[in-house]
Amino acid sequence: MINEKPIEVAPDIFFIGAFDPDIRTFDIIMKTANGSSYNAYLIKTSEGVIIVDTVKIEFQEQFFKKIESLCTYDEIKYVILHHLEPDHAGAIPELMNRVKDDVKVLISPQATAMLKAITKRDNIDFETVWTNKSLKLGEKTIKFLTTPYLHWPETMSSYVEEDGLLFSGDVFGSHYYDRRLFDDLVSDFFYAFKYYYDHIMRPFKSYALNALKLYDKLDINIIAPLHGPILRQKPYKYIEYYRKWSQNDFKDVFHGKKVVSIFYLTSYKNTKDMAESIFEGAESVKGIIANVYDLASIEEQNMINILEESDGILIGTPTINADAPKPVWDLLSCMMLLEKRGKTGGAFGSYGWSGEAVEMILHRLKSLNFKVPPLEPMKIKLIPTQEELKQCYDYGVEFAEIVNGKMVEITMN
Ligand code: FEO
Repeated sequence: MINEKPIEVAPDIFFIGAFDPDIRTFDIIMKTANGSSYNAYLIKTSEGVIIVDTVKIEFQEQFFKKIESLCTYDEIKYVILHHLEPDHAGAIPELMNRVKDDVKVLISPQATAMLKAITKRDNIDFETVWTNKSLKLGEKTIKFLTTPYLHWPETMSSYVEEDGLLFSGDVFGSHYYDRRLFDDLVSDFFYAFKYYYDHIMRPFKSYALNALKLYDKLDINIIAPLHGPILRQKPYKYIEYYRKWSQNDFKDVFHGKKVVSIFYLTSYKNTKDMAESIFEGAESVKGIIANVYDLASIEEQNMINILEESDGILIGTPTINADAPKPVWDLLSCMMLLEKRGKTGGAFGSYGWSGEAVEMILHRLKSLNFKVPPLEPMKIKLIPTQEELKQCYDYGVEFAEIVNGKMVEITMN
């Protein structure tokens, strides 16, 4: 087994997490070529011990051996849980079996139901904490920070005042195993740091910016995340990366204009012709920049980037076998990686028989929390006439005006 020994991170603060060098896929969607780690920490004080998070259940023996090398279970007074996803909460049930009954578990208010669901116990002595609450035990003072949705509702952070150490939860994490552990000792993990942000934090950018506002008030020497390297070499550079990536600042690129992106898929150019007329209409609206993309030949990463910078998204789809073709659904599945709030969506398409793909896409956009304006669905049977193309143009104008702020009543899901 790898590295049974705790590693001191700051005076009397130890890494007691587990290394998982062999994991190759995390949370179904993430590739982890360099493995990962489940970081947990132990704080020793003259008045007792604090455990900070746990590990995935398969790795709990590593975790318990490290605890046992530092203290007895009777010395543990508090357990702080920043995040209750099973990769960090896996060892909680067994930890609660080993510690004394009066150990207090500190969690965010949103974690209450999760704690019960994970431990299957009603008799855990827990207390909820949030920004401005703190814990003083012996020589250490821990301030709690409410940082929800990074990336679950119950996530929080905390800060050890005496050491300038931020326990950031999954924020600033990387799926990157390297037993040298500290950012100034491990190999180049930047790709994993960015990849982690893109897949885990990017859908919650506005929450990340809120968390940074709290972190900005702190004097941070070390960032101790729940995965990957501990960040102690110019930790503010990692904060600035998150700020830059979360700001959604495309002003320089689009000169302050709103962006309408029109994606289409076409068999016989009919939906393509519709897309181009809609484009002409959207582009004619002052303050709008419109673009058209053929879904048959666009890389996924480019799709994600375009979706992110778009204020309005229109999807043109034919109907094949009573469904939208796969590339259209693939486009929508990319939305899982993005923040949807504030984006406006619509759909259009040419069809031969029934044409239900357009309604299916509209329905999906609504369930993804897009603002879908109450415009007549732009559906055309087979080849659009000049008059129908004019209707497409008008639809593009109307949609772009709504993106640009024209008031219409939109019912959200
Ligand atoms: Fe690393 Fe969200 O668990």
